[in-house]
Amino acid sequence: MSVAPTLSQPLSVPDAVNSRHSVRKYKPGPVPAQDLDEILRLTSLAPSSANLQPWRFVVIQNPALQAELQTHAFNQAQVGAAPVLIVVYADMDDTLATLREVIHPGMPAEAQEASYQRGYAAFSAMTKVELQALGSSVRTRPTPS
Ligand SMILES: Cc1cc2nc3c(=O)[nH]c(=O)nc-3n(C[C@H](O)[C@H](O)[C@H](O)COP(=O)(O)O)c2cc1C
Repeated sequence: MSVAPTLSQPLSVPDAVNSRHSVRKYKPGPVPAQDLDEILRLTSLAPSSANLQPWRFVVIQNPALQAELQTHAFNQAQVGAAPVLIVVYADMDDTLATLREVIHPGMPAEAQEASYQRGYAAFSAMTKVELQALGSSVRTRPTPS
């Protein structure tokens, strides 16, 4: 199959799944700002638990900084060589600060408030546990029938 995906000519879902692969060598030169904006916009549409959207992105186009980051990424050459590096991380403090605005949009107000109270308690407890370098995992209780 020969498919040449571009941002303006989307692939069908099966073509996208079949043609997807990891790329570790890149064309030189800058990536157009509008392409980067569109990539970030599309990425931000991904679903997340309770619509928390805990991800944050840092767009790096700085060879010296990329060379430093490469040493923290198993010295993988593509980290330093890429024309753009996007670092993705989760910021739970910021996520909790905006929780009321984002949690379960479209839910009736009372249920949304209950969800906010539950979510705040659960996610801030998980964040504290993670800060103590212990693992944690979300567990959802089954609804009683
Ligand atoms: C969670 C995750 C982490 C990965 N980390 C790296 C990585 O650090 N370096 C890398 O070159 N590829 C990384 N990969 C890509 C995998 O190596 C790649 O998906 C796999 O070899 C299959 O090849 P394909 O993506 O071309 O089908 C990662 C993939 C996943 C899902």
